[in-house]
Amino acid sequence: MSTVISAKNLTLAYDNGRNEIIKNASFEIRKGDFVFITGPSGSGKSTLLKSLYGEIRPKEGSLLVGGVEMRNVKARKLQELRKHLGIIFQDYRLINEWTVEKNIVLPLMIDGYPLDVQEAQAQRLLKHVKLSEHADRYPLELSGGEQQRVGVARALSKNPVVILADEPTGNLDEYSSNVIWDLLENACKQLQTTVLVVTHKMPTVFSLPYRHFIIESRGVYEVR
Ligand SMILES: Nc1ncnc2c1ncn2[C@@H]1O[C@H](COP(=O)(O)OP(=O)(O)OP(=O)(O)O)[C@@H](O)[C@H]1O
Ligand SMILES: [Mg+2]
Repeated sequence: MSTVISAKNLTLAYDNGRNEIIKNASFEIRKGDFVFITGPSGSGKSTLLKSLYGEIRPKEGSLLVGGVEMRNVKARKLQELRKHLGIIFQDYRLINEWTVEKNIVLPLMIDGYPLDVQEAQAQRLLKHVKLSEHADRYPLELSGGEQQRVGVARALSKNPVVILADEPTGNLDEYSSNVIWDLLENACKQLQTTVLVVTHKMPTVFSLPYRHFIIESRGVYEVR
């Protein structure tokens, strides 16, 4: 299986390198892997995800995402790489002034896809996340679980190679959480999408094989 993410002696830090959060971490993630990342509050889970989509740069070591070295990636290359990443946040981060449908195709709009492609993709995704009835509503007219389904549909809109999700079910009840886990599981199973999810509550029902990383005391450890 091909390697999608590779970290070697990765050190991540804030405050001009003075505040080291993750130290000397090494791991490999392959295409189609489903990875849960857990660990205490403040341990660096969000920080690790941020390094994977280039919001922060590694201080030391190597971090390859889709073959791109994140330590010295240039703006244009990063922009290109992000086209292959789907990102999901705990607080949804939808545009409240836009309809559900428009929110879902936002990544396609940014990339200048023709309107008919956007339309077709929107219909497919709305159906997939069971929101066809709500296409013309606005995010604040939806429940939290429905808003996060919009977030998932948006992340899937460009058939990403990797999905990065930071506490995607953190604000949801168990029922809505299970719907989100199901959608992520399906993306992994059907499209071989690599999925990395930070969560403090692993799903109780999960049918795919998965990997589990724990971040603790500045290290990233895999549970075996
Ligand atoms: N922009 C920043 N500048 C300086 N320090 C930061 C910044 N963002 C986070 N930190 C610090 O880095 C550490 C790790 O933060 P991070 O957000 O990665 O933790 P987390 O594991 O995601 O925690 P939680 O479970 O609470 O979301 C914390 O001590 C935090 O205060
Ligand atoms: Mg966090």
